Amino acid sequence: MTGKQPVTVIGLGPMGQAMVRTLLDGGHPVTVWNRTPDRADALVARGAVLAPSAAEAILASELTVLSLTDYEAVRTVLEPAAHALRGRVLVNLSSDTPEKTRAGARWVAEQGGIHLTGGVNVPPSGIGQPGSTAFYSGPREPFEAHRPTLDVLTGTDYRGEDPGLAALHYQLGMVMFWTSMLGYWQAIALADAHGLTAADVLPHATETLTGMGDFLSFYAGRIDAGEHGGDVDRLAMGVASAEHVLHTNADAGVDTALPAAVADIFRRGMDAGHAADSFSSLVELMKSPAAAAGARRQSQSQVSK
Ligand SMILES: NC(=O)c1ccc[n+]([C@@H]2O[C@H](COP(=O)([O-])OP(=O)(O)OC[C@H]3O[C@@H](n4cnc5c(N)ncnc54)[C@H](OP(=O)(O)O)[C@@H]3O)[C@@H](O)[C@H]2O)c1
Repeated sequence: MTGKQPVTVIGLGPMGQAMVRTLLDGGHPVTVWNRTPDRADALVARGAVLAPSAAEAILASELTVLSLTDYEAVRTVLEPAAHALRGRVLVNLSSDTPEKTRAGARWVAEQGGIHLTGGVNVPPSGIGQPGSTAFYSGPREPFEAHRPTLDVLTGTDYRGEDPGLAALHYQLGMVMFWTSMLGYWQAIALADAHGLTAADVLPHATETLTGMGDFLSFYAGRIDAGEHGGDVDRLAMGVASAEHVLHTNADAGVDTALPAAVADIFRRGMDAGHAADSFSSLVELMKSPAAAAGARRQSQSQVSK
């Protein structure tokens, strides 16, 4: 016996496996279950115990960490194990929408269990590493009770009682992550069309994306104040630039879906009357696309009169 809290981990994709390894390294007794049982082999060899069913895995520890693809997978796994949930604490690190996490938390509470939502901000290689974080939300008392064990996995950033909050903050990060990384893939495809490798582009790419923090800081205060003055940049310039990006990609014969979508958003901002404003005015278009579409229809009907 190690004296460390026993933990069950359900879901042994790359993330669940990294969590089990980290908990075992930290001296925690770990019970695991996975739909495809042989994913547990290497973990069992390191000391984890493979339970024969999800229900038995949940019954083995007061605390269960779920690391599944989404809440549909969570439902598939938990419904047959519903009888095991009473009095158990489920830390659900599977990602999904805030609405689905709220519905999942309600369902777990109806079975007599406690649901904490989590959103992990690092890849599997970041689990157990200093500086990594995960968002959490849900009932505060059980969260605080289990925080020392959760801290073994990542730093813990508690966002409030609403079970949807951790998912919301996680999705805020993911919308930026996926679109930024797609921008990077696009740049590499364009570079490749011109005989340049990802390694050739790396210093420029790193400098560009590292410098984004300064842009975020500059625009945050102005956006919150509803200020989109064209004193620093004008949307009309942005449209021309977005079109250059689109045509450079088209000329190179690479996929243009992403730069075309970007150019389209810029053009919609122009159509909504923001030509002389900063490109930060696109935030207003994104906040209420219906209002922007109305403004565009109005300006088109004035042009045709
Ligand atoms: N990987 C990352 O970089 C990363 C980073 C941050 C957050 N996350 C989030 O962490 C969670 C886990 O990530 P992951 O990369 O390990 O995900 P994953 O590769 O999708 O695997 C997750 C697990 O879900 C199980 N699963 C999927 N559908 C199922 C179903 N219908 N019934 C039963 N089990 C099912 C898989 O079982 P099988 O083994 O049987 O297929 C596997 O154990 C995800 O929600 C992901 O969004 C991942």
